[in-house]
Amino acid sequence: MLVSGGNVAHFVCFLAARAAKADWDVRTCVGRGAGRRLCVYGSAEMHTWIQKAADMSGLGIDAIRWIPIGADLRMDVDALRQQIVSDTAAGDLPFLVVGTAGSVSTGVVDQLRDISAVCKEHGVWFHVDGAYGGFAATLPQAPDDLRALSLADSVAVDPHKWLYAPLEACCALVRDVEALRATCGYHSPYYHFSQHALNYVDLGPEASPRFVMCLLTCARQSASPPRKPTWMRSIARWWIDCSAEARRSSRICYSTVVMSGARAS
Ligand SMILES: Cc1ncc(COP(=O)(O)O)c(C=O)c1O
Repeated sequence: MLVSGGNVAHFVCFLAARAAKADWDVRTCVGRGAGRRLCVYGSAEMHTWIQKAADMSGLGIDAIRWIPIGADLRMDVDALRQQIVSDTAAGDLPFLVVGTAGSVSTGVVDQLRDISAVCKEHGVWFHVDGAYGGFAATLPQAPDDLRALSLADSVAVDPHKWLYAPLEACCALVRDVEALRATCGYHSPYYHFSQHALNYVDLGPEASPRFVMCLLTCARQSASPPRKPTWMRSIARWWIDCSAEARRSSRICYSTVVMSGARAS
């Protein structure tokens, strides 16, 4: 689905995950079924879209389990597994894990392959925030952790970041189209289109979307074809090097944390 920005793309994926994983009707009983509460997991480095999604979906931000990060600033996958096990034992329903492919403050990539394995083990939807770094997964020098976003149930990528598409152009990629339909498909008499056609009104929150594809096409046409791949590769190389350095260097981590205001002392 092409939508207006990362926040909206993530929200669409969040709702699709909820529809797919809750074993009760979330349209009538939002956050709990038979006393079980839906829980969502992600690292302390996650973008604020997660709070908005938890709040606006009606689950509430206390449904978010903030998984600690290690010294390398990536989600601690053992802590994730333990939290899922303990929530399940308490009778709650873990429905969504968010892995980050390029965090806001340092650009680090979570161990997406290992996170995917935990999700498979526990039957949880695996979503990747690729708003910033997702496109770099297509490049030859992309590290394995980044390429592992191909294992996700859903990914959000932002052409209006690295691809320099004009605002607002973002894309939600969801493997199971039926999860989107279960979230957004409503059939009133005035929207009674053919069931066999692909009607985007059934798959996303908007009935009157902007023509985002036009923005993407213009951006592609305005980029010089022979230069663009080299340019994108060199930015990708720079980013991969910087995020590896950020993981190694306490100085870089410290200054970034102070800049983001998260832990100023
Ligand atoms: C990692 C990450 N996720 C999500 C977002 C939200 O994207 P948007 O600003 O397009 O809503 C951003 C934007 O800065 C981001 O860097």
